[in-house]
Amino acid sequence: MKEKNSPSAVLSQTNLSEANQASTEDVQRHWQGVVKRRSFLKGLGIAGATLSASAILGAKGNAETTRSSSTLSKGDAALLRFAAAAELIEADLWQQYNELGGVQGGNPAYIAALSNLDGDMPQYIADNTDDELSHAAFLNAYLISKGAEPVDLDAFRTLPSSQATGAKNIGRLTNLLNLNVDLSWYTRYRSTRNPDFGAHLKGPFTIENEPAIPLNDSDTPPNQAQPVPPATPQQARMQAIANTAGFHFAFIEQGGASLYPTLAFKATDLEVLRILISIGGVEIDHFGLWHDKAGNAVAQPLAGVVDPKTGLTFPDLNARNSELDQTNLILPEPCEFISKNLPACSVIRPTLTQNGGAVATIKAFTDDLLFLGQSSAFFSVVNKLAIEADSVRRGL
Ligand SMILES: [Fe+2]
Repeated sequence: MKEKNSPSAVLSQTNLSEANQASTEDVQRHWQGVVKRRSFLKGLGIAGATLSASAILGAKGNAETTRSSSTLSKGDAALLRFAAAAELIEADLWQQYNELGGVQGGNPAYIAALSNLDGDMPQYIADNTDDELSHAAFLNAYLISKGAEPVDLDAFRTLPSSQATGAKNIGRLTNLLNLNVDLSWYTRYRSTRNPDFGAHLKGPFTIENEPAIPLNDSDTPPNQAQPVPPATPQQARMQAIANTAGFHFAFIEQGGASLYPTLAFKATDLEVLRILISIGGVEIDHFGLWHDKAGNAVAQPLAGVVDPKTGLTFPDLNARNSELDQTNLILPEPCEFISKNLPACSVIRPTLTQNGGAVATIKAFTDDLLFLGQSSAFFSVVNKLAIEADSVRRGL
């Protein structure tokens, strides 16, 4: 089922556009308030005095300028709260991958199929899971330490688990059983064009309505061998599922790679900026790793796998002889950045709020069908957190 047909998604989009409008009005009201206050202070000669005091404090050295205040501004708290929500969502999906395909995972055939992409895949899956859990726990603990409200999405852990050997039978926030994986990032990082300048780049092929984890043991027996190339329909099915996971890992982490810069340049407190840049750097590290591994599903000797149930085909992208497809071009191509009058620059892209911010992240995850089956209450909560984060303006 496509996201556009999902009642909850339609509801969420309606709420979103209303909320976006409300949020624009909020921002305008807030901005008018700021302008009035600045004019008032200038009239009293206080603005200049405040500036001089700040300059004197700054001149005392880095210890002063990087010192954090004991409480968070409303804006900084909103940035960290959305980051915490995103990390809880990421942690939930990574835990599902880890139970089945991690180094301690419980589904040998899935582990073998993932290992056909790279022998270290199970270790990387376990470590990525640990990273997301640590991000979520740290962000919530930091919010609490500053007297701010943490994020709790436990009420929405209602989605079904895989029935395959290895998966725990518990409620989930995210659904990995039927995904549409947007592969535009693959082309975007090989292109000189940037979505922040209006580029619309398509992925090299399409993954629609495909599981990224095994569904059950009759669909994919947990102890079957996974030769390259797969010899039986069930082996091909499991390899297609593992390949889908490989591309999904990169999709998720490139989302984080764009999200954190958009949050960071709204931060006021230097310690909040430090947190956002430091966690964001790890998301980028994850993306680079998964970008490399996903390419192995569409390069020889593994390329050519066809899922017998869905018809999904993993083509040989190197056979196209195009730099937009070549699998080892995993380092970002220099692209448009800041101004078309400036030279191309190798950067994370996009980093404009409307393309890579909090609302854009939730929309991308929704389009991915990651939240298939979630309640309208869930969409209301995460979209509210997203709008609050995207509405923050740096308070300097
Ligand atoms: Fe993370």
